[in-house]
Amino acid sequence: TVSRTFSIIKPDATRRNLTGAVTKMLEDGGLRVVASKRIHMTQAQAEGFYAVHKERPFFGELVEFMVSEPVVVQVLEGENAVLRNREIMGATNPSDADAGTIRKELALSIGENTVHGSDSEENAAIEIAYFFKDEEIVG
Ligand code: CMP
Repeated sequence: TVSRTFSIIKPDATRRNLTGAVTKMLEDGGLRVVASKRIHMTQAQAEGFYAVHKERPFFGELVEFMVSEPVVVQVLEGENAVLRNREIMGATNPSDADAGTIRKELALSIGENTVHGSDSEENAAIEIAYFFKDEEIVG
C-alpha cells in the first residue's frame, strides 16, 4: 500500500550541490517527492528533531552539523515508503552500505551521511508533522 516517509538531504549534500543527485536516486528508486523545502534549521529545531538521541555521545556533534548549513526536508510517497527509502539510502555508516545506495555512493562518514530517513511509519508521521503543514503536502 502507498504510504509516506520523511527525508532530509543533509548539509554535507547541499554543500556539495547534490540536492538533485540525491532526489534523482529517490525518484529512480520509486518514490515521489510530494513536499520539499530548503531550510536552515535552528538549534532548537534540530535539538527537538533529534531529542531521542539526547543522551548519545554524538548528540552535540549531530546538532551542530545539522544547523551548519541548509538542508532540504522532503515528504516521499510510494509503496512501503519507509522501507523503500531505507533500502535506497543504505546503512547509516557508509562503509557498511551496499553498492548503489545513496550513502555508499555519496556519504562522507557516519555523521555526514547525506540523508536522514524515518525508521518507522509511526516516526514518519511525527517527523512529517514536525516540518510540514498538511496543505504543504501535495500528493
Ligand atoms: P540520522 O538517520 O539522521 O539519525 C541520527 C544520526 O546520528 C544518524 O543519521 C547519523 O548520521 C548520526 N550518527 C549516528 N552515529 C553517529 C556517530 N557515531 N557519530 C556521529 N554521528 C552519528
